[in-house]
Amino acid sequence: METTSTNEAVTNHAVNSPSQSRAMLAADNLTKRYEDGVLALDHVTFEVNQGHIYAMLGGNGAGKTTTINLFLNFIEPTEGEARINGIVTHKEPLRAKEKIAFVSENVMLYPNFTALQNLDFFARLGGQTGYSKDDYREVLLRVGLQEEAHNKRLKGFSKGMRQKCGIAIAILKDAPAILLDEPTSGLDPKAGFEFIRLLESLRDEGKAILMSTHDIFRARDIADTIGIMNQGRIVMQSQKSDIAGEDLEKLYMKYMAGYMEQVN
Ligand SMILES: Nc1ncnc2c1ncn2[C@@H]1O[C@H](COP(=O)(O)OP(=O)(O)O)[C@@H](O)[C@H]1O
Ligand SMILES: [Mg+2]
Repeated sequence: METTSTNEAVTNHAVNSPSQSRAMLAADNLTKRYEDGVLALDHVTFEVNQGHIYAMLGGNGAGKTTTINLFLNFIEPTEGEARINGIVTHKEPLRAKEKIAFVSENVMLYPNFTALQNLDFFARLGGQTGYSKDDYREVLLRVGLQEEAHNKRLKGFSKGMRQKCGIAIAILKDAPAILLDEPTSGLDPKAGFEFIRLLESLRDEGKAILMSTHDIFRARDIADTIGIMNQGRIVMQSQKSDIAGEDLEKLYMKYMAGYMEQVN
């Protein structure tokens, strides 16, 4: 229920402030200049609501990983802030981390542990001791890892299979937000397709999903909102419904062409 405040200025500020918005993930003028002077991120602002997938699309060096690392508080912003469910990541990193699951490009799991052992290890590491072996089996089947692989060591797994274990661990964490850095790079087309369908099912459960990709086709296939990044800025943002595929391709190629000129 609304309470009336004698201090109207403060109340209005609280209502209008972006930190009070309902977005699960918010980048607010997020800026990062690395110690060597590189301006990797330049006042980037966007939001991801629950039940939405936001794809950051951009070439190498655009600032995608920097953005994700700021949400995870692996690095601190130079200016602006990243918020998870209203929690400013660099001010309350532990509280923020509870709300977020992360799947990296190269999922770091234990090669000598089996799939089931990896799930158990990482669930316990995250403080979750209530899961049974059946729970682990269920989630591994959900991500598409067939039963005969559950008791095999990860060192024999393909990248796609490791990626499935990574997302299984993220699912077990049951956080409202999921971050993925280039999750489909290096996957064969079938594994990539399956992975995308899995992200859609998580989106439909209400997760807020932020992913980076340099693959325009995947971004177009899955994202509710696409932000094209170039040189640390979001140069274009569009809702899936807003823009025809060809237009998006043209725009992306234009920015990618600019990028190719820089590197050549
Ligand atoms: N630790 C770092 N120190 C200095 N510069 C960095 C560091 N990490 C990334 N950069 C630079 O920041 C820019 C953005 O990089 P990054 O966020 O990794 O882009 P992307 O993930 O889109 O490829 C690039 O110019 C990159 O060289
Ligand atoms: Mg990157």
